Amino acid sequence: MNKRPTSVARSAAPLTGQHAHEIQAFGTVVPMPIALSEKTRRESVTNLNQVLADTMTLRDLYKKHHWQMSGPTFYQLHLLFDKHFGEQSDLVDLIAERIMMLGGISIAMAPDVAEMTLIPRPPKGREEVPVQISRLLHAHEIVLKEARTMARQAADEGDDGTNDVLVSNVIRTNESQVWFVAEHVVDAPLVRADGKNGK
Ligand SMILES: [Fe+2]
Repeated sequence: MNKRPTSVARSAAPLTGQHAHEIQAFGTVVPMPIALSEKTRRESVTNLNQVLADTMTLRDLYKKHHWQMSGPTFYQLHLLFDKHFGEQSDLVDLIAERIMMLGGISIAMAPDVAEMTLIPRPPKGREEVPVQISRLLHAHEIVLKEARTMARQAADEGDDGTNDVLVSNVIRTNESQVWFVAEHVVDAPLVRADGKNGK
């Protein structure tokens, strides 16, 4: 026999629809006892938010191309682009959490990312594979260029943790992905060797 409760305690009911002012504004840093000055942490947060916006855009560019793939290399590039999407997603989490541990606020939502990113917006429609690859390589180079400058700046300021994230994770991952992607636009012969033309 089902026994229905006769009343619901207030503490058992979900309190939905709550609103309040935000507790920390974007662009501010709260004190964090990690032996780094506020100025250093603020500079690192600003830099990391830029590389975060660009990494989120590159991550999404990989998923777009993963879905919109076409042609004879469909299978390998469909899988490769999803692998790179996953690695870029890991970087996004790493960068965003680095920002928070410095006392800052990481950007998160697509409209904010769209405002900040330096990577050109692709069309909504489908593009040919060499164009997809060119877009990815350009996006990688934007990330690599800024990450190297930011890594040097972090090292100069004594923020070794940020320097390590940028060098060991962002730069190394992006350089490796560039290699795997770039080799797909080498016009290598598939059946008949073409080497003698280079002599
Ligand atoms: Fe998929």
